[in-house]
This record gives sequence, structure tokens and C-alpha cells, in this order.
Amino acid sequence: MSDMLENLETRQGLPVEMQTLLRDYPRDAWPDHPNFAASIQNWLGAHVMFGRLADIVEKDTQAYLDRDSDVQDYAGRLGYFGNQLVANLHGHHTWEDRSYFPELNKADSRFESGLQMLEADHEVLDAGLDRLTKHANRAIQLTTLAPDQVKDEAGKVLKSVEDIKSYLGRHLPDEEDLIVPILLHHKMRG
Ligand SMILES: [Fe+2]
Ligand SMILES: [Fe+2]
Repeated sequence: MSDMLENLETRQGLPVEMQTLLRDYPRDAWPDHPNFAASIQNWLGAHVMFGRLADIVEKDTQAYLDRDSDVQDYAGRLGYFGNQLVANLHGHHTWEDRSYFPELNKADSRFESGLQMLEADHEVLDAGLDRLTKHANRAIQLTTLAPDQVKDEAGKVLKSVEDIKSYLGRHLPDEEDLIVPILLHHKMRG
């Protein structure tokens, strides 16, 4: 398998050789499976929340750029929701890399390359989060230092959050397709 096919920016779904268990545990059947524990539901719920936070930052920024919102309102919401997105996602990745993935690998070593692929995704995502943090902080500072330059910086915030949305759109479904079948098969996290 080439690295190109595994790359977060180009990948089209979970690589087929990582779908061994997904074939036995298709997504439609997860909620009714007896091993579908509350902790699995909570983990999937965190993924939904990241998407919602990214949507809020994107919509707020677009509204500001379209002159539909006040600059102080925009800066306040960007500070709050931008921080929620970045801090929650960083924490989630750190926990997955250090605790969750090693636990899964111990339970079923067949998916080591898949877990490594997801860890590599986290590095791409974290670089995107750093870009978002830099541009959001700068946009907020400019509201007092140079209000005529906020628009330019908000354009960079928009591009950064769109990148994050596109990364999440690949990473989260692939991560779920790899991991939930392992959890169900081994009756983990019950
Ligand atoms: Fe995750
Ligand atoms: Fe992840």
C-alpha cells in the first residue's frame, strides 16, 4: 500500500485491508449490538461535537466576512468556540494516542497499521489546529490594534477551519469504522 492512499488529505475511506472486522460489524448494526456500550456511544458523541464546534467557527467567520455581524461579537465568539474546538480536539487526540490506541492494539494486534495511520492523521490535524489558533488569536488582537486588518486575518481563520472540517470528514468516519468493530468483537469498554 502506498503512503498516498493512507494520507489524510487524499484518502478515500478506510483502506480495504483494514476492513476485516468492519465486514462482520457493519455500521448500521452497531447501535443494536449487545456489546455497544455507553462508553462507545460517548466517544462517537465527542466526534459529533467536534463537527458542531467547527461548523460554528466557520459560520460565524463567514457571517463576519459577509458583514452580517459586529466585530466585537465575532471576536468574543471566536475566542470561546475556537478555544473549545482546539482544546477538546487536542485532548481527545492525546488520550487516543497514549491510552486508547495502545489498549486496542493489545486486544487485537491485526490493526496496528490502521492505528498508526490514525496517529499520523492526528499530526496533520494538530498542525491544522495550530494554524487555526495562530490566525484566530491574531484576528482577536487586531480588533484593538488594527481594526481595518481584521477582515484579512478572518479570511485565514476561515481557510484554517475549512481545512480542519475536511480533515475531520475523513479521519472521524475512518477511525470509527476501524475501532468500533474491534470494541464490539472483543466486548471492550462495556
Ligand atoms: Fe477520535
Ligand atoms: Fe482520532
